[in-house]
Amino acid sequence: MNSVRNFLSVYDLTAGEMYDILSRAALLKADRTLGGGYLKGKKIGLIFEKSSTRTRVSFEVGVAELGGHPIFMSPRDMQLGRGEPIKDTARVLSRYIDGAVIRTFEQARIEEFAVYFKKPVINGLTDLYHPAQILADIFTVYEAKSKMRNSTKKAADAALRDAGDIIKNLKIAYFGDANNMANSWISLQAVMGFELVLAMPDGFKADEWVASESRKRGGRFAVSHDKIGAAKDADVITTDVFISMGQEDNKEKIDKLKPFIIDDGVIGSAKKDVIFLHCLPVHRNEEVTEAVFERFSPYVFEEAENRLHVQKAIMEMLF
Ligand code: CP
Repeated sequence: MNSVRNFLSVYDLTAGEMYDILSRAALLKADRTLGGGYLKGKKIGLIFEKSSTRTRVSFEVGVAELGGHPIFMSPRDMQLGRGEPIKDTARVLSRYIDGAVIRTFEQARIEEFAVYFKKPVINGLTDLYHPAQILADIFTVYEAKSKMRNSTKKAADAALRDAGDIIKNLKIAYFGDANNMANSWISLQAVMGFELVLAMPDGFKADEWVASESRKRGGRFAVSHDKIGAAKDADVITTDVFISMGQEDNKEKIDKLKPFIIDDGVIGSAKKDVIFLHCLPVHRNEEVTEAVFERFSPYVFEEAENRLHVQKAIMEMLF
């Protein structure tokens, strides 16, 4: 049996472990040198079958800051890109490296890799989930809402007990398609228990398998086709590009999503201290107006930075 811990979806961690990660991330953010020996001597493979700026660089820098050695691999340069099976790639790499971060297409592909690799694997985005991103997002929310800036573990733990309560009482409204970010919010809700509304056009709905996995764990979320109503009294408004990588030609979908742009009307319907998050890259004036994006950009770029701190905490736990 393969007893190695992976992070292929949010469900691979308990709520307690997630709060431990948030707590540790706060400390790692306060002191970039902390954890410097954690990955000493470890080689971590970063296998990216899709483009990336934030995920690639934050993991690469994170491995280096923890004292490990990151090895970036693109299918353009590997036999994987010429059809070598993922299970053979996994069995070869497991003899060289100590852990892997993978960005790929189907969730089944990363799961197959993990079965044959037999060492920890972290999901750096699949078509189904983006779990490292969603932990950075909730960390950003918790930081903003609790105004937490603690540099000792004791203070961070104390603030986290409040943050758990804060997070449970939040209303988060996600705008856009039922893509990997929507799926990640749904799965995080099932574990952390905040109020979640998905705002999407008539005829759009959550992925049925993702919804059933959430229900099995006691998760609850609403779908609204009324964009102002969905945002009412929200603490967090968030979105992703409306059209995911590889779907750029789907004009019908683009046209249907257009009215769901996050604008002043949406923000005005939310709570006064609402924050807006976007995992980036942003398509200005498609999923969010330029004015709203720029107004909330300090939170958005904090969210991007938090990828690094949260992922370092995840790697300390798994690698
Ligand atoms: N948010 C995110 O995953 O960004 P990249 O595609 O640049 O990695």
